Amino acid sequence: MKCKICKAQAVVALKSHNSAFCPECYKRFFLRQVARGIESQKLFTRNDRILVALSGGKDSLSLMLALSRQGYKVTGLHIDLGIPGSSADARGVTERFCARHGLKLIVREMAAEGLPIPLVKERLRRPICSACGKIKRQFFNEVAVKEKFDVVATGHNLDDEVARLFSNTLRWDVAYLADQGPVLEEEAGFVRKVKPLWRLTEFETANYAFLMGIENHYAPCPYSPGATFSVLKGLLQRLEAVMPGRKLDFYQGFLERGKRLFAPGQPKKADMLAPCPLCGYPTSSGGECGVCRIRTALRGDSA
Ligand code: AMP
Ligand code: FES
Ligand code: ZN
Repeated sequence: MKCKICKAQAVVALKSHNSAFCPECYKRFFLRQVARGIESQKLFTRNDRILVALSGGKDSLSLMLALSRQGYKVTGLHIDLGIPGSSADARGVTERFCARHGLKLIVREMAAEGLPIPLVKERLRRPICSACGKIKRQFFNEVAVKEKFDVVATGHNLDDEVARLFSNTLRWDVAYLADQGPVLEEEAGFVRKVKPLWRLTEFETANYAFLMGIENHYAPCPYSPGATFSVLKGLLQRLEAVMPGRKLDFYQGFLERGKRLFAPGQPKKADMLAPCPLCGYPTSSGGECGVCRIRTALRGDSA
């Protein structure tokens, strides 16, 4: 197989794009797709200060490298969850990556915040993933507000986004459908959040990470084996195999023609938000924010 651009030996074939690429042309293709994702959805500009949430996985590290190579002002943020046998590796990979590429990195330790995930798991009587997600999102936002970043970027890819869209559609969750997309606008104490890899599949990102020599942390979380939406992702993979390009079409079509149909009638989030009485973080819970409730449960003051 020959590279569609330069006719050298191809190493990556992409049916969805009806193309095959040699290593150098593939890297350029990947960066072009990231740029299209940013520009078409107006995610940010080169003047914005971008906080990139780095888990140590291939998606977020590839995103960080792609953005820095394209002249964006990026700083990494790693949340050390304190999970034995997992977090130290993820943190080590992230720190070595940033040191190797001369990229700025902020690390926040949940143990130092009184929120080590093993303790949260032990004390809470509900699935740890949702509590862990809540804690991570709150720290992404807190660091961004405090350090005056314009935007938080995460490494969610097209497979993550399409599976979420499919899940929201299966439940006809109109509120989530109205909100879903590669950009969540800034609002009352929440920094703008973006997903610049929304046009790229997991396979495409893995190829970029491999060709760029990115060492990544791929051990699944010991508390949540099995990827999020794994059943839906499997179904969508089978669909894509017989209809190449369908995932991107489905998601792009939603952004261009579907999403706006769900917005009317949705209450404005800002109207539902009030500061948490304990920490001041904006919350729609009508009382303490999710993270303060977790802290309260850890102290054992509540059931
Ligand atoms: P996940 O939900 O684990 O697939 O992660 C989705 C995105 O959230 C990743 O691509 C990262 O941008 C971000 N993320 C997840 N875990 C962490 C972490 N421990 N520290 C910083 N960012 C994270
Ligand atoms: Fe948060 Fe596993 S519970 S990453
Ligand atoms: Zn709070």
